[in-house]
Amino acid sequence: MKYYLTTPLYYVNAAPHIGHTYTTLAAETIKRLKRMQGFDAVLTTGTDEHGQKVERSAEASKRTPQEFADVVSAEFRRQWDALGIQYDHFIRTTDPQHHLTVQWLFERCRKNGYIYQGSYTGQYCVSDELYVNEAGPGDPCPFCGRITETVTEENYFFKLSAFQDKLLALYETEKDFVRPEARRNEVISFVKQGLQDLSISRTSLKWGIPLPVEGKHVFYVWFDALIGYLSAVRDTGLWPADLHLVGKEIVRFHAVFWPAFLMAADLPLPKSVFAHGWLLFENDKMSKSRGNIVRTDPIREVVGIEALRYYLFREIVFGQDGSFSYDALIGRYNADLANGLGNLVSRTLTMIKQYRAGVTPAQFDQATGQAAAIAIQAAASAFDRFEFSRGLEAIWTLIAAADKFIVDQAPWKLARAQDEESHRRLDTALGTAAETVRIATALLSPVLPDSTARIWKQLGMRNDLSLIQMKDIRWGEFPAGQAIGDIAGVFPRIDSAVAIEKMRALEVEVGRQQAALLGKTVEEPAGATGAIAPLAPSINIDDFGKVDLRVGLVLSAEAVKGADKLLHLKVDIGEAEPRTIVAGIAKVYKPEQMVGRKVVIVANLEPRKLRGILSQGMIVAASLEDGAPVLAGFLEEVPVGARLK
Ligand code: MSP
Repeated sequence: MKYYLTTPLYYVNAAPHIGHTYTTLAAETIKRLKRMQGFDAVLTTGTDEHGQKVERSAEASKRTPQEFADVVSAEFRRQWDALGIQYDHFIRTTDPQHHLTVQWLFERCRKNGYIYQGSYTGQYCVSDELYVNEAGPGDPCPFCGRITETVTEENYFFKLSAFQDKLLALYETEKDFVRPEARRNEVISFVKQGLQDLSISRTSLKWGIPLPVEGKHVFYVWFDALIGYLSAVRDTGLWPADLHLVGKEIVRFHAVFWPAFLMAADLPLPKSVFAHGWLLFENDKMSKSRGNIVRTDPIREVVGIEALRYYLFREIVFGQDGSFSYDALIGRYNADLANGLGNLVSRTLTMIKQYRAGVTPAQFDQATGQAAAIAIQAAASAFDRFEFSRGLEAIWTLIAAADKFIVDQAPWKLARAQDEESHRRLDTALGTAAETVRIATALLSPVLPDSTARIWKQLGMRNDLSLIQMKDIRWGEFPAGQAIGDIAGVFPRIDSAVAIEKMRALEVEVGRQQAALLGKTVEEPAGATGAIAPLAPSINIDDFGKVDLRVGLVLSAEAVKGADKLLHLKVDIGEAEPRTIVAGIAKVYKPEQMVGRKVVIVANLEPRKLRGILSQGMIVAASLEDGAPVLAGFLEEVPVGARLK
């Protein structure tokens, strides 16, 4: 039986980060799990490449949209390959086969009467040639600052309003269509509020799939992107999808728009949509504009991908938001993998080698066997409900039971005894430990495919772990007379401080590499509105060279009487005398905060009198929307007087 699942098709206007990795790893884990349950599991991932944002980013990096999309799409693919993700299809919405499928589906909807021409009114920026969704009449364009115009254009609409009852009936009969429950309720109440028809084409946009109609219409975002799931597997018999795995912010598109498009085209609906939560970093959703992006490469290189897989599925309740931190990542790894499972494996194998010449005795303790039966059942059913953290907990309960059994039995003492009873007990202790490792390893294999395969080999197992079936995992079946393989540590302990420092340093480097690869403009615009102030006219390097920026150390600071914004500073920039600088930072910085602080000053600015004091330079600061300053500074040590260029 087939099981077809998908990740979202990721936008190419931003480079991949750990949030995208989270979804992709989860989808891959589910694929492995389904295979273990006897399905022929097939996974599609890919990239969503059309639209205004890509057009703009491409232009800014002086590439065509296609060239730009090629680079970013390849970067997603490189990431998934580096992580060893076993995807079966990688669909790009720029693939010709996808274009044909979108046009075909549009025609089917149209034939069935669900497409009509209408007019769309929005705020349009003539200079940038785009609609500004968030702007009202008279508002400026967030990109160029010019006033937008209210424009009406003819475009094509999808009759979403016709599907309200059908969708509600779908959620009612297919209780698992949207999961988890909280998301299901959210979707139902959204649909109950009434659905508006969707504008699905634009004439103002060029970078998109043309509609099979007169005129210059291209498809507008979601109608194009969602169909990717179908174009990836059209004519393979895999449709409908069994599962669309998505982040919670796009559940509505998948659980409302998508089934409506398919109903309109008389095509089978996906079986379910599962929305996971957000991965938060420092309690905030990761985004470029917040500057709290975590990338996957540094983690993979420093602690390995299995540490990350374990952390994500053990620490975070799948479906809910969860935090990511380097510290917690390594804490979990050391506690559960290095000390927990890793320790059990190495102790077990070493003892078998020492006391039984490397041949595992096939004798097992009954009580531990009962604990194992419970763990197998609990893990299998939790995994089946995608409750990964619960499943893993159940496996660790078994590991703890085996640990306790070994300590109670004290095989190291039994090995020294001469009587038969002790030898029989030693056999049971070793057999029980090995059997626990075998069971735990098999259960864990979808989550930790790589390290479990290595443990499997060390146990001496000859069958292929990646072919094992969940239903065949039973206590007491460790093959008799089997010799263990070569012993090697699977989860070496990680020094947290060293690893974190390495990951941080690599993060900076990888960030730079990505920016270079994609052109700096891939960076999302700053601020919640997506707007940054218009850029100043461009200058050449010589123009810039005229500005002399220096590192200075603040020696003293005091308020300026009668001026609540100003501070009077003495700043050492390595000259014979400290400079006097009057800075408009008093609303944010207190004098005592400034003393001893390194700042950046413009050292060759004409002196200017402020409130009767001659200011010999200016301090460099970011200026926030409300005018509040944030002083520029350095993360590393810098000498006073160093020039910035
Ligand atoms: N292109 C659309 C999806 C179209 S599907 C037909 C899109 N792309 S996206 O690049 O923005 O990717 C969004 C997905 O990436 C989320 O739904 C989620 O799966 C994943 N994540 C991105 N950031 C994330 C976190 N911080 N945390 C968890 N998942 C995150 O939306």
